[in-house]
Amino acid sequence: MASSKVLALFFALVFVANIKFSLGTVDATVFFTTRERQALLTLKQGLTDSKNRLSSWAGENCCMWNGVRCDNKTGHVLELDLRNPKYSYYTTNDDYETNVMAQLGNEINCSLLKLKHLKSLDLSLNDFNGTRIPEFIGSLQTLRYLNLAKASFSGKIPHQVGNLSNIQYLNLGGMLGFGMPLSGDDHLQWLSHLSQLELDLNAANLSNALHWLQVINMLPSLLELHLPRCQLPPLSYVNFTSLEILDFSSNQFNFPLPQWLFSLTSLLKLRLGSNDFQDPVPHVLQNLTTLTVLDLYSNKFNSTIPSWLYGFKSLKYLDLSSNWFHGTISAAIGG
Ligand SMILES: *[C@@H]1O[C@H](CO)[C@@H](O)[C@H](O)[C@H]1NC(C)=O
Ligand SMILES: *[C@@H]1O[C@H](CO)[C@@H](O)[C@H](O)[C@H]1NC(C)=O
Ligand SMILES: *[C@@H]1O[C@H](CO)[C@@H](O)[C@H](O)[C@H]1NC(C)=O
Ligand SMILES: *[C@@H]1O[C@H](CO)[C@@H](O)[C@H](O)[C@H]1NC(C)=O
Ligand SMILES: *[C@@H]1O[C@H](CO)[C@@H](O)[C@H](O)[C@H]1NC(C)=O
Ligand SMILES: *[C@@H]1O[C@H](CO)[C@@H](O)[C@H](O)[C@H]1NC(C)=O
Ligand SMILES: *[C@@H]1O[C@H](CO)[C@@H](O)[C@H](O)[C@H]1NC(C)=O
Ligand SMILES: *[C@@H]1O[C@H](CO)[C@@H](O)[C@H](O)[C@H]1NC(C)=O
Repeated sequence: MASSKVLALFFALVFVANIKFSLGTVDATVFFTTRERQALLTLKQGLTDSKNRLSSWAGENCCMWNGVRCDNKTGHVLELDLRNPKYSYYTTNDDYETNVMAQLGNEINCSLLKLKHLKSLDLSLNDFNGTRIPEFIGSLQTLRYLNLAKASFSGKIPHQVGNLSNIQYLNLGGMLGFGMPLSGDDHLQWLSHLSQLELDLNAANLSNALHWLQVINMLPSLLELHLPRCQLPPLSYVNFTSLEILDFSSNQFNFPLPQWLFSLTSLLKLRLGSNDFQDPVPHVLQNLTTLTVLDLYSNKFNSTIPSWLYGFKSLKYLDLSSNWFHGTISAAIGG
């Protein structure tokens, strides 16, 4: 097996020997990636790029291009990181001009499908001007990481996304039209095809996705769930017990913390900030002693800090601000 690989590589080097290259063995990769290089050039053609972020996308070795990462042995493109580097979720209006200018936009060409080994695709923080997420994204079968957050996509999320059977991280947060209905009548059913997932649907309007909970409940290996500003319908029961990170910030929850929360024994980070939770801070929270992050920021708690909280020895981050907590902070906080 090993020797046939060596032979194949040797053959390839001989075969391309009369093409001119500037660097040593890295250039063998050029031979293998001509097709992928062409696919990237077609992708570039479809994109608007007023700040010339893709100016390095010329020349033979596409593995040297900005945002492209290849397998050093085979030369196949593994990662495409076209995230807008100038923009962040926390961008202020002052920076607006610069940030907008660094956005890529227009169209994502389906030539992407020729990248048969692509594991990671990041198009976040660009501006696709309210177009839909292209359906062919679902055919990028090798993808493990897909980040389309805040890239001004709008409309329904194509259920083909559910075909990404190797996906481990999916971020569709902050799609255009804050509060738009997500996936309308198919109720996130596509999600049930995915497993082992970190999921971020920041600011999607789930209030109409009646069966969302049932569907998410079918993802027993879900590791992270971020649903801030998602306008959730009330919850009753949850099945995803391997969850490590749960982010339900800014959902206007105003009912007692649901009991199912306390069966999430693997939970490490719990974010419940900017809701309408009221006293008492539920006693059952004390079962979640492995938490490293607890955020109860901006709720309506109006009591003393519960003493059991001082028993959370793994905590690294605790936010109780913007409530009406009162009384003294015990010296036990040092623990
Ligand atoms: C390829 O090699 C470069 C330079 O040694 C390294 O920085 C990069 O991480 C490697 N790429 C992969 C995918 O391992
Ligand atoms: C992709 O690019 C090719 C060649 O430029 C063009 O003919 C085709 O219409 C594009 N397709 C999509 C879906 O963008
Ligand atoms: C963005 O979309 C709007 C409405 O569909 C259209 O009028 C406008 O020309 C588009 N802008 C660009 C830069 O394509
Ligand atoms: C992709 O998803 C669609 C709709 O969910 C489905 O009809 C189709 O069979 C899937 N294709 C593959 C290759 O899994
Ligand atoms: C969310 O969707 C529901 C049902 O479609 C709708 O009534 C509500 O106005 C939406 N919320 C926002 C903020 O768009
Ligand atoms: C819990 O998850 C299992 C395994 O995926 C599934 O078979 C079951 O239907 C789920 N239960 C509920 C109440 O959703
Ligand atoms: C919390 O822990 C106590 C004692 O360890 C246990 O009796 C109780 O059932 C737990 N509560 C929940 C909701 O798991
Ligand atoms: C907090 O509770 C006290 C009584 O314990 C009450 O007087 C006060 O109005 C409450 N504050 C708020 C903002 O609800």
